[in-house]
Amino acid sequence: MRRAVSGKLGGILNGKHVLLGITGGIAAYKCAELVRGLRKAGADVRVVMTAAAERFVTPTTLQALSGHPVRGSLWDEAAEAAMSHIELARWADAVLIAPASADTLARLAGGHANDLLSTLCLATEAPVHLAPAMNRVMWANPATRANVAALQDRGFRIHGPASGEQACGETGEGRMLEPGQLVAALAGSAGAWQGRRVLITAGPTYEDLDPVRFLGNRSSGKMGFALAEAAVAQGAEVLLVAGPVLLPTPSGVRRIDVRSAAQMHDAVMAELAGTDTFIAAAAVADYRPKTVSAGKIKKSEADATLALERTPDILAAVAGSPMRPKRVIGFAAETERLEEYAREKMHNKRLDAIAANAVGMPGSGFESDDNALTVFTRTGRHAIAHTTKRQAADALLEILLEQLP
Ligand code: C5P
Repeated sequence: MRRAVSGKLGGILNGKHVLLGITGGIAAYKCAELVRGLRKAGADVRVVMTAAAERFVTPTTLQALSGHPVRGSLWDEAAEAAMSHIELARWADAVLIAPASADTLARLAGGHANDLLSTLCLATEAPVHLAPAMNRVMWANPATRANVAALQDRGFRIHGPASGEQACGETGEGRMLEPGQLVAALAGSAGAWQGRRVLITAGPTYEDLDPVRFLGNRSSGKMGFALAEAAVAQGAEVLLVAGPVLLPTPSGVRRIDVRSAAQMHDAVMAELAGTDTFIAAAAVADYRPKTVSAGKIKKSEADATLALERTPDILAAVAGSPMRPKRVIGFAAETERLEEYAREKMHNKRLDAIAANAVGMPGSGFESDDNALTVFTRTGRHAIAHTTKRQAADALLEILLEQLP
């Protein structure tokens, strides 16, 4: 289904200078609509095309739609005299490369500056957004994976790709996001969470007993993933540390997959520096088997007893760390005495806020698409009425910024 630029986005990029880089891929045909969408949202758009892009769409089309001459070469003397490539890099409030081909990702990861677009990306201080588009096997190739990881580490924002039918006739991950989604992604980066790094844990943890058995729980990860999606839509740089879940990574989110509480703890602590807000939405196991058997445990006639030991409390470790983020938020799933237990947890773990939900009732909490939350801060309480997890996530983020500015 094509998502056109929705009326809701009109004006949301008012006055923003967007430099659109188009590289060589069949998805370049969508750039005409993308330029229109960006302009409808209020942006001033200048287009830079690589030589390969010009084989898919003509500069004339994009010049007519953007209202500015299209730049292609680093060596165009007339264009350089009007606005040099350094001035163009400074002019941009945001750079969006759509489609970003596999070759473009490789050259950006390598820090190349051998054409106008790559030079601009090195010379700009504006955020660079990339909308990759390529054949699914190229996207899955370890070389591409490594380039994407390197770019994400350097702060490039990756949007998509989506899954579906591809121009090459295959089906899989590699389609460029639709123009409306890209405008929304850019608009999000002008949002309230812009420039903030948010680290979120999500999903269950699995604590292995032996090579085939583990202790787990029913957490679906949906609340944490909804929070990640909502934070990115509001402009945050989001890292999601996810336990074993069957959910796709929200577009623009960096994800680290882990299995056990110990792995989640290590991943979070390694990534904590520079984090503005930590949200612990994961249902972390409190206990793990004291020993993990190397071989499958054999049954016998006798009953068995499992010896368990405590796992590290990730949330308490983050709150007590010298690198403590500005906001540390926990979740509390309780079946009774919600406020009392939630406040106790907030106090004991030294949190700034805790989002509590009553579990054991149908239609919210674990495995559900919906949730109702009460957010306790040290001085107040804020109810989020029963709604979708995505809307609850938007509401929670709003409360956090309002109450913990
Ligand atoms: O103490 P309890 O497990 O009920 O606290 C729940 C909160 O603590 C959640 O935010 C959960 O993500 C976090 N937690 C954690 N590490 C643990 C246990 C819980 O981060 N080992």
